[in-house]
Amino acid sequence: MVSTENVEELLGKVLTCSSVLERAVAELYFALYSKTDDPIIALVFKKISLDSSSHASILEEVATITKLKRGDINCREFLAEQYSIVERAMSYLETKTKLSRGELRTAMEKLLLLENYVGEETYHRILIPLMAGFLPIQSNLLVELMNDIVEDEKFHEKAVKAVLETLTTESPAS
Ligand SMILES: [Fe+2]
Repeated sequence: MVSTENVEELLGKVLTCSSVLERAVAELYFALYSKTDDPIIALVFKKISLDSSSHASILEEVATITKLKRGDINCREFLAEQYSIVERAMSYLETKTKLSRGELRTAMEKLLLLENYVGEETYHRILIPLMAGFLPIQSNLLVELMNDIVEDEKFHEKAVKAVLETLTTESPAS
């Protein structure tokens, strides 16, 4: 049987590390934004980066308010594959100053098409409503704040797929 203490411990780890993951995703999309020439695709990346950094702050503060925040956890280990996918994509981007369409597609595929990979957006879209249901402080306002993140994630999933589709189907501009 899972005790309340264990649930709160796990919830604290998930919340804390979700915030860490969002921060890493924000950096990743900022790198994509600054290395992409196509201004519209770059703008989509900027939007995802700004949203992710706002998610990181909100989740961190939710963890603090609910007293679930954990300073003793190695999120890189806890998130394992989720985190290493972001790291691998980031190290690939660090080798490039600008991305050609082909390289951009490679970078996106690193994020999206790895076997069995559930994107960060999907991960948080599924996880956040679950977390909201188990918070030790039950508040409609907190749930609304978390639902708002879920709505953003739905947009991110759609937007990332649309960008990849554009890169796959459209011939390179000029
Ligand atoms: Fe996110």
